Amino acid sequence: MITMQLPGDKSIAHRALILACLAESPSQIRRIPDSADVNSTRSSLCALGAEISSSEADVALVTGKTAWTPSRLPIDCGNSGTTARLLMGVLVGLGIPARLTGDESLRKRPMDRVVYPLQSMGGRITCSEDRDRLPIELEVRTTGSLRVLRYRGRVASAQVKSALLLAGLVAGNEVEVREPGVSRDHTERMLVSLGAPVEFGPLDDGGARVLLAGPAKPVRLPGFDLTIPGDVSSAAFLIAAGMLTGQAVHIEGVGLNGTRTGFLHVLRRMGADFREQVLETRLGEPVGTIDVVPGRLSAFEIEADEVPALVDEIPVLAVLAARAHGETRISGAGELRLKESDRLAALASNLRELGVKCEERPDGLTIEGSGRSLSGTVRTGGDHRIAMAFGVLGRAPACEIEVDDRACVRVSYPGFWTDLDEIEPGRES
Ligand code: S3P
Repeated sequence: MITMQLPGDKSIAHRALILACLAESPSQIRRIPDSADVNSTRSSLCALGAEISSSEADVALVTGKTAWTPSRLPIDCGNSGTTARLLMGVLVGLGIPARLTGDESLRKRPMDRVVYPLQSMGGRITCSEDRDRLPIELEVRTTGSLRVLRYRGRVASAQVKSALLLAGLVAGNEVEVREPGVSRDHTERMLVSLGAPVEFGPLDDGGARVLLAGPAKPVRLPGFDLTIPGDVSSAAFLIAAGMLTGQAVHIEGVGLNGTRTGFLHVLRRMGADFREQVLETRLGEPVGTIDVVPGRLSAFEIEADEVPALVDEIPVLAVLAARAHGETRISGAGELRLKESDRLAALASNLRELGVKCEERPDGLTIEGSGRSLSGTVRTGGDHRIAMAFGVLGRAPACEIEVDDRACVRVSYPGFWTDLDEIEPGRES
């Protein structure tokens, strides 16, 4: 049995830093991951005047609401969509002018999904070159406050939902967001724990609704102490490596929010046995242990309604499918084309290059599993989750896989290769 602890959850870390910078008193955030994405949020907040210091490497001490002064320099969100979209919400809500930009990959990703609803709230936003891409210019708001927003999203996106909630929170405006699926709900849970008037939950039609009830003025948040739960999305890679090599994995201190753990249910359908145990709750987030005992790998199906709860785990599930018995079909996953790379195209081309039969469809993949020898060099396109997924496949018996850019894992999980080495490569039987 392999026992692991993961660095703090990236999604929760972004939100904790932003909320701490909106709070009326100091906060202490422990187990901050040293990932490039979270560092982008931290440096962006500092560029906007935040005071964030560290007593130890993974601890952030945030003074409180010192941030939110206009920056003359562009705010560089690096590779991080969460940084760009969530900050856009706060800055528009506060009416602070800024120019947001990012790296080559982030500048290709769609921003209209946040820009449009923020504009309909009264935000003044100009997309400079390409209409809905970074760099984006947020103008100072001169005319009154924002308007109430009732928004029905076309896709389930936690980044969009969070941006709108944060805009309403700081502007003192009612915001209601409905989504066609249940996306991760960290922002809602943290806001409720901090006393904000937020209600949220699933709807009968399979979607979800969140309401920030009409605050007459901006909500005042208290400072908080938080030890960030381990990142369940990072855990997924190690669990998958255990599945491919026949080793049981025990993960401690990990986030167990059900809007993130959809992949565990797929593993069960594949033939693994898992047990999760919630031991505590931190700022509304369940935290505990996961135990996974591998079994014979069987092919599986994923449909659209399941995608939001495992959207970041599809790359690693796809490499498991390459080693499973039978044909796997993943559908309703068109959003993967808009991530750090076009992940459906990257998965299909790399799987084929290694010798796996894989059909790419507009919204998914069909993958034929086999035990045949796989070898070759994977082209990550700088995408951390593609690198980690194929790194995991490289541990399976009869797989000789090189990854062209191993360093890109720093975006979410800098210690990935070291942790993966804890798992013995599988042997051919
Ligand atoms: C995230 C939301 C998801 C996810 C991303 C992190 C977040 O993106 O894929 O890795 O922290 O809110 P979408 O909101 O685009 O679905």
